[in-house]
Amino acid sequence: MRSIVILISGRGSNMEAIVRAALAERWSARIVAVISNRADASGLEFAAGHGIPTAVIPSKDYPTRDQFDAALREKIDGYAPDLVVLAGFMRILTTPFVDHYRGRMLNIHPSLLPSFPGLATHRQALAAGVKLHGATVHFVTPDLDHGPIVAQACVPVLEDDSEEDLAARVLEQEHVIYPRAVRWFTEGRLALEGARVRLAPAATGVPEVASVIAI
Ligand code: GAR
Repeated sequence: MRSIVILISGRGSNMEAIVRAALAERWSARIVAVISNRADASGLEFAAGHGIPTAVIPSKDYPTRDQFDAALREKIDGYAPDLVVLAGFMRILTTPFVDHYRGRMLNIHPSLLPSFPGLATHRQALAAGVKLHGATVHFVTPDLDHGPIVAQACVPVLEDDSEEDLAARVLEQEHVIYPRAVRWFTEGRLALEGARVRLAPAATGVPEVASVIAI
C-alpha cells in the first residue's frame, strides 16, 4: 500500500478533498500524516478528526530556508512516504529539498500553467483579460510553479467576476483534479517522460483524461 504525506499552510480544503476521495473510493493508499508550517492552519483539525497524525514544523522558528527545509525533510522522511503532496503549502522550497523528492512530489497551482505562476493568480488572470482560467497539478521541480503537468482544469472567466468569484470557481475544480491526480500516482499510472507526464490506462480499461473543462 502506497503512503502519502500532505503538506498544508492553512485551510487545507484540497487536503480534505484528497482525504475524502481516498475514503469514498477506497484507495489502496494511506495518508500517513498531514504536516503544516503554521500551528494555526485550520486544516490540521480536519486531519486529526479523521485519525490522521498531524505535525507542525513552524517555519517562523527557523532563521534560514535551508534549516527549515532540513527539519521538514527529517519529519517527512520519518513517515517514509511514497508521495509528498503540497496542498496550499505556501513556502518556496530549496533545490536540495525538491531534488530529494524528485518524481514523488506533487503540487497544485491555481492557474493554467505556464500562465500566471506566483501569487495572486486570480488577480493576474483578471488583469490579463483571459477568458479561460483554471488550475494545474504538476510534479515539483526546482523552478517555482513549473514542472511536468499531470492534470489541468479550466473554467470560464465571466464578465463581472471578482477575484473571489474566480477563486471559488477554480477551487471547486481543484477539488476534482487533485484527488484524481494523487490517485493516479498511487496506482503507479503516472510516467515521467522528460518534461511530459504520460497517464497509463486504468486496469478497468475505462478511459480517463487528464483535463477537465468546466464550462
Ligand atoms: C489553493 O487554491 C491552491 O491552489 C493554492 O492555495 C490554495 C490553498 O487552498 N496554492 C498555491 O497558490 C500554491 N502556489 P486550500 O488550503 O484550501 O487547499
